[in-house]
Amino acid sequence: MCNVELSVPVLIKNVNSLWVFSGENAITIQLFLSKYVIIVLKQSPSLLCCPVCGKHLALEERRYICSAGHSFDLARQGYVNLLQSRRRQSRHPGDNNEMVQCRRRFLAQGYYAAIATLINQKVRDHLGVQVSEQNNQLLDVGCGEGYYLQRLLRDGSKNGIEVSGVYGLDISKSAIIAAARLLPGVTWMVGSAVKLPFHSRSLDVVLCVFSRICAVEFARVLKPGGILLIAVPGEAHLLSLRKLIYDKVRPHQAAKHEKGLTEYFVRDASERVNYELHLNGAETILDLLAMTPYYWSISAEKKATLAKRQKLDVSVDVNVISLRLNNTFKLD
Ligand SMILES: C[S@@+](CC[C@H](N)C(=O)[O-])C[C@H]1O[C@@H](n2cnc3c(N)ncnc32)[C@H](O)[C@@H]1O
Ligand SMILES: [Zn+2]
Repeated sequence: MCNVELSVPVLIKNVNSLWVFSGENAITIQLFLSKYVIIVLKQSPSLLCCPVCGKHLALEERRYICSAGHSFDLARQGYVNLLQSRRRQSRHPGDNNEMVQCRRRFLAQGYYAAIATLINQKVRDHLGVQVSEQNNQLLDVGCGEGYYLQRLLRDGSKNGIEVSGVYGLDISKSAIIAAARLLPGVTWMVGSAVKLPFHSRSLDVVLCVFSRICAVEFARVLKPGGILLIAVPGEAHLLSLRKLIYDKVRPHQAAKHEKGLTEYFVRDASERVNYELHLNGAETILDLLAMTPYYWSISAEKKATLAKRQKLDVSVDVNVISLRLNNTFKLD
């Protein structure tokens, strides 16, 4: 397909990709052999800061290290764990492995592809389709098992979106391990949205899909002119599923997700993705359940009833909202 001449040390990471490390300025050349596409991620120096002392974290071969000597190894699966134990509310915070696998199966069927397509359009509108000198740095917070970043890089390569750095962060180690297996070439990290291990004003796009919104942190890490993209449930989202779980169901209050944001952000645009899904088979229905917060609260009885269903028609109703920092926001 192509010849790549390399004069720097090479680390073969995976049969489908090639990672080239050259000190702090790591270059990742990723070959998606099956798709005959090449994405070159020109990674600039690390944007990360030490979760212990806040100093700059530099990438040194297989570890990140700060000038105070705190170091964080790259795990063999290709991620770094930057989660401080005091940020953990349990031994294994976030989605567990079962939830991660359910999400992976469900999303692989393309049921939420329309949401990914809209997010990609929004990123493209912001970053532009021209290959430019811009330093486009993008973070997916609460990225789960990596579906949306995978779709972004796949569609982005077709549309010529050039990103210098792509980061996926989740508090769940299971989710990050699954993500790193799916898509090498992204900087995957275990961490918390509450204290992002990024320098202030370092990112062009922060993406947050059905995940915890931490307005003040998102505002801190965005460059002036950067955008926050959130995907949040609309009023009718998964209504028929909720009716099978709860005796009384109220419409989602779509506006509540934006409440904490208004102090830091102004809304640029909001677009709705709304369609019906026709799910077949108990496994798919239970996979969908495991992707939602209802997984934690459903009674054993209702879950057993749900497990006997072979069909479920359910509405997807999601708002994809883009926001910009408001003019009054100042860093402390
Ligand atoms: C509903 S899932 C969404 C995952 C992914 N964005 C998707 O839509 O496929 C929410 C994710 O947020 C993660 N999460 C929960 N609290 C978090 C926190 N404080 N910081 C980072 N991630 C968190 C969970 O582990 C889980 O993967
Ligand atoms: Zn440090």
